[in-house]
Amino acid sequence: MARVTLFGSRNTGAAFDSELDIPSMAGKVILITGAAGDLGRQTTIELAKHGRPDCIYIADLPRDEATKQAVVEHITREAFGGDHHKTDGPKTKIRFLELDLTSFSSIQECAAEFLSKDTRLDTLVLNAGIIRIAPGTTKEGYEVHFGINYLGHALLAQLLMPTLVHTAHQPGTDVRIVVISSEGHAMAPKEGIQFDKLKTDCVRMSYASRYGQSKLALISLAKELAKRHPELKVAAVHPGRILTGMAVGLWKESLLARATKSIAPFFCVPVSVGIINHLWVVSSSKVVSGTYYEPVGVPDKESALAKDKELSDKLWKWTTNELKDMKPFEPLAAG
Ligand SMILES: NC(=O)c1ccc[n+]([C@@H]2O[C@H](COP(=O)([O-])OP(=O)(O)OC[C@H]3O[C@@H](n4cnc5c(N)ncnc54)[C@H](OP(=O)(O)O)[C@@H]3O)[C@@H](O)[C@H]2O)c1
Repeated sequence: MARVTLFGSRNTGAAFDSELDIPSMAGKVILITGAAGDLGRQTTIELAKHGRPDCIYIADLPRDEATKQAVVEHITREAFGGDHHKTDGPKTKIRFLELDLTSFSSIQECAAEFLSKDTRLDTLVLNAGIIRIAPGTTKEGYEVHFGINYLGHALLAQLLMPTLVHTAHQPGTDVRIVVISSEGHAMAPKEGIQFDKLKTDCVRMSYASRYGQSKLALISLAKELAKRHPELKVAAVHPGRILTGMAVGLWKESLLARATKSIAPFFCVPVSVGIINHLWVVSSSKVVSGTYYEPVGVPDKESALAKDKELSDKLWKWTTNELKDMKPFEPLAAG
């Protein structure tokens, strides 16, 4: 943990100016999980500013109607100023989708709700995440970090895959899945993913190992999806160390995080910088499918376990089996 916190990656690498370097997102449909949280919300705002995407879906934990409306209004105001609704021409829709990644039925309802509104999906950003929550399991009985960060996202991608593929077959598209992992994947158990414990609360594993295992699995997910879907660009990223809601949660829970809080600004970056790797992977023509990037656009930094093809293949087979009853949804227009 200390190794990653104090000596991990810095936000260096490719120069990327989000004002100038994001190409037009005009007409695109984008879905970002965890987009009511800090990195997801700011990513939504920046993408919305570039050429008016058709719609950006904020998929996040259910909240009351007023809170959902406030999230949508905040994003709209930050992206377009106060007079968005008065402007002529196409307007970007910002829509809230309820998604609880601890529950397969919530994930299915989220995908169904999306497909009741749209028939294309250009960019899927698997961004939601948790760190250091008490040992527990999801509704289907998976260790909670693994269930939310990895398996829930694997299911969402599976359900929406026909729509992503359908969109990729339209002329002039550039369809992407961006998987938000972490340099924390290096904290996974040194023997790799603990398959025999994934359907327990892993109470004997440290929270760092549980988080690390889930983030290791996400890198593998990006690589496996890239291999199976050459028509898409699929990449994983570590965004950097950023002072977000996640850091605030860690300060409450972790002695090490509290002990290093006063010096955190020296090794963390603000959200405006922390989203640059998200934006780069969503939009840069330099992105190579199947790659894990540290900020910004730096490849080949993943651990030996994250490069282990046998482990990745085993995880893919395990995942496919766990999700075998979850049939992908066909987009309505594609029949
Ligand atoms: N910040 C960093 O330094 C850092 C470093 C490496 C990787 N990351 C990754 O970056 C991503 C974004 O994190 P962030 O820093 O922006 O943290 P954040 O502000 O806490 O955002 C995370 C979002 O995920 C949502 N979420 C939590 N549980 C969920 C569930 N069961 N279903 C659906 N959504 C759920 C949260 O909702 P609530 O707020 O309602 O709980 C929140 O909106 C995460 O995947 C994280 O692991 C962050």
